[in-house]
Amino acid sequence: MKKILIAGVTLLSATALSAQPQLSKDNIDEVLKAMTLEEKATLLVGSGWGSMTAGSMTASATALVPGAAGTTRTIERLGIPSTVLADGPAGLRISPRRDDDPNTYFCTGFPVGTVLASMWDTERVQELTTAMGNEVLEYGADVLLAPGMNLHRNPLCGRNFEYFSEDPFLTGKTAAAYINGIQSNGVGVSIKHFAVNNQEVNRMENDSRVSQRALRELYLKGFEIAVKEADPWIVMSSYNKLNGEYTQQSYDLLITILRSEWGFDGIVMTDWGTKDGTAKAVKAGNDLMEPGMQVEIDRIIEAVKTGEISQEELDRNVRNMLEYIVKTPRFNNYQYSNKPDLEAHAKLVREAAPEGMVLLENNGVLPLKNVKKVALYGTGSYDFIAGGTGSGNVNKPYIRNIAEGLTECGFEVNQDIQKWYEQYIAYSKTNFKNNGGLSGVLLGEAVIPEMEVKRDFMERIEEVSDIAIFTLRRNAGEGGDRYARDGDWTLTGMEREMIQNLADIYHAAGKKFVVVMNIGGVIETASWKHIPDAILLAWTPGQEGGLAVADILCGKANPSGKLPMTFPVNYLDIPSSHNFPYNYKDEHTGMWDFLWSGPKKEQKNVEYTEYKEDIYVGYRYFQTTDTPVSYPFGYGKSYTTFEYSKPVVKATADGFSATITVRNTGSAAGKEAVQLYVAAPAGGLEKPAFELKGFAKTKTLAPGEAQTLTISVSKYTLASFNEEASAWETAAGTYQVMFGANAADIRATGVYKLKKGESWVVNNVLAPAATINKISLQK
Ligand code: BGC
Repeated sequence: MKKILIAGVTLLSATALSAQPQLSKDNIDEVLKAMTLEEKATLLVGSGWGSMTAGSMTASATALVPGAAGTTRTIERLGIPSTVLADGPAGLRISPRRDDDPNTYFCTGFPVGTVLASMWDTERVQELTTAMGNEVLEYGADVLLAPGMNLHRNPLCGRNFEYFSEDPFLTGKTAAAYINGIQSNGVGVSIKHFAVNNQEVNRMENDSRVSQRALRELYLKGFEIAVKEADPWIVMSSYNKLNGEYTQQSYDLLITILRSEWGFDGIVMTDWGTKDGTAKAVKAGNDLMEPGMQVEIDRIIEAVKTGEISQEELDRNVRNMLEYIVKTPRFNNYQYSNKPDLEAHAKLVREAAPEGMVLLENNGVLPLKNVKKVALYGTGSYDFIAGGTGSGNVNKPYIRNIAEGLTECGFEVNQDIQKWYEQYIAYSKTNFKNNGGLSGVLLGEAVIPEMEVKRDFMERIEEVSDIAIFTLRRNAGEGGDRYARDGDWTLTGMEREMIQNLADIYHAAGKKFVVVMNIGGVIETASWKHIPDAILLAWTPGQEGGLAVADILCGKANPSGKLPMTFPVNYLDIPSSHNFPYNYKDEHTGMWDFLWSGPKKEQKNVEYTEYKEDIYVGYRYFQTTDTPVSYPFGYGKSYTTFEYSKPVVKATADGFSATITVRNTGSAAGKEAVQLYVAAPAGGLEKPAFELKGFAKTKTLAPGEAQTLTISVSKYTLASFNEEASAWETAAGTYQVMFGANAADIRATGVYKLKKGESWVVNNVLAPAATINKISLQK
């Protein structure tokens, strides 16, 4: 038979074609049998990088859905179509415009991952991602490359905004809801980045060195929950190494743990970049190489011929691919509309966003009353940040800013200030060029510097305004970590001075001053949080953000978000700060290290990072060591107050269920996110003071109204990982079941008695080459 291979597609004569099996759900074995070695290798490699122009990542994706990140390859002879993979996670990322096409293809800018986790509400998350998944389907994509599930090990990781939390339980549960929402549309997700990809500096090569216990309890736990509870179609292996081996080439990670222990039955694909060792990745169960290069196909063919890859290994991966393909809308000929209901989704985003915003301070000024004229400061008030930069940046139709929102609420925004800021922003946007690495060049706008406003101007404006609001903003994104310095972690001198001046001027006149934080990740707050009358942490909550902020300020919405991470007093209080590349800037370029062909220096936190804090990440450290924090994990105020009843804890066959009644005791309607922490009995493994094992959010409770919440916790959820035995273990004894409004505000406690400890033995894999010297905990 004569075959001509053109761009990975095998063309045959019409007669030969009719004799070929055409892929269907029921003939995967037959198709697999009919495939040539070349075809099999082709299916395991994506269709490649194209021209990297703004908004479009690959040429091949351009042909199907312009701006999508990648595609799988077509094999026409066997009726195997290409499928389309597009970013995520804050909405679908595709090009908004197409050549010679008057239509637009904007996608809704949803709240970023951190905002979703701040909601503590799996139903709300699922509702949002059900809408998001509808855009994936209706714009003709098959898979959303999301959610991002890496832990907030350190607040300066540049992609934390895409990720959920410092806690693996909150991460796993939020991710499961996210996945269920997207996949309810018949499209898939690719959960990422598996695993231990917690910094951007040298992200392609960095070796995360971590103990088996921290790995199991923290860095894999969220993925485990998501896989077991939501059955994602795809897992994206990360760029980095884990204990010396690339994750995409780790059999122990991708087969032993992911498939054998957790029961994953989808496909694994690489993050976007080829590495040597394609054969090793295939053997390790990494089914798809993305974005894909011809050399990877050649390597696979060669390795099968030499016997390095066995026929079984090859067929195992190809079968996984075929099983994935038959699920996709493209295979099933779904006639997408290119017209999702963007208006309905925008409405939903505006309604939901306040539920992920966190009221940090409020001395009674909010919601605003008896004020009309607002002096609105800060570039973020007029140029709001909806989400971060990098592949997570969505091409949204617009971003609503706070000035619009306040005007819509009936306030008068001072026009002198507004015009001044608008001119400055317009000027800056044309004159400052984005300079921030890959993200800067390609994917998203740089944040323009804050505009300095002098005190005498503020004084003049004070005379004609009732209140001042200042929006503080920060952004970050893929390709770079943040900095522990002024303008990022800490305020600049100018920001500090403006906040102090505004507070002094308005307070002297008997008026109030509010700060809104339009930021993607944690910043230093301890040194200035006492200055304003209120602080609203708006995060980067999507395209309707400014309207949602205004809804909160004017009292149309009651914020019910709570922090999914700790805000420490000082950066150096965070144990991982000693093993994170926060000060690499002067010595290293980080992002582009993989292009460096010279000898490698074994540079700490660049070539490798030791996770010396072990299981003591976030509140696990701060609560166990009683280290003061600025805001604890789970913290967030409301316009109302809630009372927690005495809990009832009942043993069940599999663990316990805990019930509590929450009553709204204030005068505004509101929702409360209730957290269930468990402190283990002495006698078992050393443990943090307590850990999050459950949470629930009430519906909107009217003043006086109550709701009873029941949270079930399994014994397995209570278990910790014993490295010696390579087993999950629960100790016998009395567990404290603590209901908290946050990690430092436990409102009610019950007990659960476990008569007999249990253990679940797992494979002893992924140990670090050398023992990690752990930090010693100091109280
Ligand atoms: C990112 C992924 C993303 C992929 C495709 C990579 O650089 O790490 O999160 O899905 O690009 O855009």
